Amino acid sequence: MKHVAAFAVLSAALLIAGCAAPAPEPSCGSGGCPSHAGTSGPDAATGIAIPPVLVQEHAALHEELVQATRADGRTGEAARAVADRLHAHFVREEQIALPPLGLLEELARGGVRPEMGAVTEMTDALAAELPRMLEEHVEILRALDALKEAATAEGRPEVAEFAGRLAAHARTEEQVLYPAAILAGDMVKRRLRE
Ligand SMILES: [Fe+2]
Ligand SMILES: [Fe+2]
Repeated sequence: MKHVAAFAVLSAALLIAGCAAPAPEPSCGSGGCPSHAGTSGPDAATGIAIPPVLVQEHAALHEELVQATRADGRTGEAARAVADRLHAHFVREEQIALPPLGLLEELARGGVRPEMGAVTEMTDALAAELPRMLEEHVEILRALDALKEAATAEGRPEVAEFAGRLAAHARTEEQVLYPAAILAGDMVKRRLRE
């Protein structure tokens, strides 16, 4: 729970940084930034939650992005463009793509509980929304390329290296995490039918 709380705080910090920054296209409308609070915590009835290791990884990446958005010049501008593209994607990912992964250990041990059935709503939504989420990754990766280039040109190798790690994270989601989440949903459906 501590990790989830830290994640929510960092997410809020990222949103605040993204909104306060003079980005050309603000990600938050006149109603202000959406709150991430409550989207990553375990569901009280089902116990379905994002695995702590992924909460930590996200928190660390987001903390670094917040730092990068505060940079001067083209680097800060490019980092704010990344943050801008990440927000809505990130909220949806927390809602439907990452929580199902919290069931993998139990499923791999052969377990199933009726409460797990709730995950299929998430994984059905993920399967339906996958093309759009992958499109969003294309945009995010494009923005990360620009960040890498700007940071390299401005002598910020640590930001360029971070951009590479965030891009690798997106690739891991595409190649491993999203498919695993969908398979977790399929497995739950199958076992609950048996
Ligand atoms: Fe992610
Ligand atoms: Fe993603």
